[in-house]
Amino acid sequence: MYPEENKDLDHYLVRGGAPLVGEVTIGGAKNAALAILAAAIMSDETVTIENMPDVRDTNVLLDAMSCIGVIVDRVDRHTVKINGSHVRNVSIEYELVKKIRASYYLIGALLGKYKEAEVPLQGGCNIGSRPIDQHLKGFRAIGAEVAVRRGEIVAKADKLVGAHVYMDVVTVGATINVMMAACMAEGKTTIENAAKEPHVVDVANFLNSMGANIKGAGTDVIRIRGVERLHSATYSIIPDQIEAGTFMFAAAITNGDILIKNVIPKHLESISAKLIEMGCQIEELDDAVRVRSTGELRATQIKTLPYPGFPTDMQPQAGVTLARAKGTSVIQESIFENRFKYVDEITRMGADIKVEGNTAIINGVSGYTGARVSSPDLRAGAALVLAALSADGVSVIDDIHFIERGYEDFDRKLRELGGTIEKCDADADIQKFTLKTAIV
Ligand code: UD1
Repeated sequence: MYPEENKDLDHYLVRGGAPLVGEVTIGGAKNAALAILAAAIMSDETVTIENMPDVRDTNVLLDAMSCIGVIVDRVDRHTVKINGSHVRNVSIEYELVKKIRASYYLIGALLGKYKEAEVPLQGGCNIGSRPIDQHLKGFRAIGAEVAVRRGEIVAKADKLVGAHVYMDVVTVGATINVMMAACMAEGKTTIENAAKEPHVVDVANFLNSMGANIKGAGTDVIRIRGVERLHSATYSIIPDQIEAGTFMFAAAITNGDILIKNVIPKHLESISAKLIEMGCQIEELDDAVRVRSTGELRATQIKTLPYPGFPTDMQPQAGVTLARAKGTSVIQESIFENRFKYVDEITRMGADIKVEGNTAIINGVSGYTGARVSSPDLRAGAALVLAALSADGVSVIDDIHFIERGYEDFDRKLRELGGTIEKCDADADIQKFTLKTAIV
């Protein structure tokens, strides 16, 4: 059962005020994992995936894969063996994937391998309209007939043949999906205006480790030469850029000092740059970053952009932190139009933010007071937790099933840094928590 089906376990209680200090280890990247797990079924041999995050989205996808006959063998919490030789059905049931948007990666994987896929459209966070035209355009370009029927994408091809695909917008999902579908197409596929996110590169590296021939991932142009088959591999997923960035902002907002371990500092450069502008000290080590915030935070400007720009998935965490910085900050959200849903919630904690279209004008306040707020989506929910940790008094965060889609043991990791946060079973626990944490 997933947490959203057990509403009683769906709250965090947080007493704010303590700086977060210590070390935290970052897990595997959720968004890379979702694509890599789907891509793993493209081989008939067993593929071992390591450093897999144990979060709801990856678990939902693995369940859906089991249901179409993929053998999913969980070696331990973060290692899974996948064998896609017994896929008996290229049609995925709506009930299996309605909770995750990234189920669309099964289209690229199934179409690429079996030349046929039927996958329902749905799921993910409601952060704005999320068209799939570029995915469909790419599949069609390499020879598939694609239709959207009764809420499903139905794709079919006699054979797939390499082609030129120009992406009208920079899209992570379509870049990865077309890359997967083209892996075993005849001849050469070129994806122009490709997304350059770290997880696009990770998926390409993974496919190459199975014998694919993909060049240029991480640049605007990806070239794929089709191969006949993909073989077994053992692959470790890259660290999660967004989980790491969330803990970086946790240090900033609580005046803390956190060593964030198991990261690729290069992937965090846009986040580090903004924290430096805000007055934090950043130390980059080989596979760790240390973020210290000692004085008052300063206002700055942020515009979300595709990688290497500032990630849209970090915008809410940055927003709640800037709302406590001295001066007026401006955030422009240029990827998804519905990513300011945390603003109404954070206003209840005392923030002064005005949203006009895709721009938030943030007048910094000196502090927050605890309040009962609700997670509007995954990253906005995490941002509200950060705000609550820096607030005066107790906060209740509702709907944490969103947060659990993408953060493994978020509350445990925050507790180990000195945060006072508990997952709560019922409304009755709020009073107990308030009394208990007041004594400490
Ligand atoms: C992925 C991430 C998500 C992140 C986003 C942007 C996963 C599972 N999710 O989402 O966390 O916020 O990248 O970094 O990896 N677009 C089109 N047509 C399309 C596809 C996209 O117009 O066919 C537009 C979208 O509306 C959006 C932009 O392109 O404005 C970027 O979307 P995209 O990169 O595809 O996001 P996702 O892959 O859905």
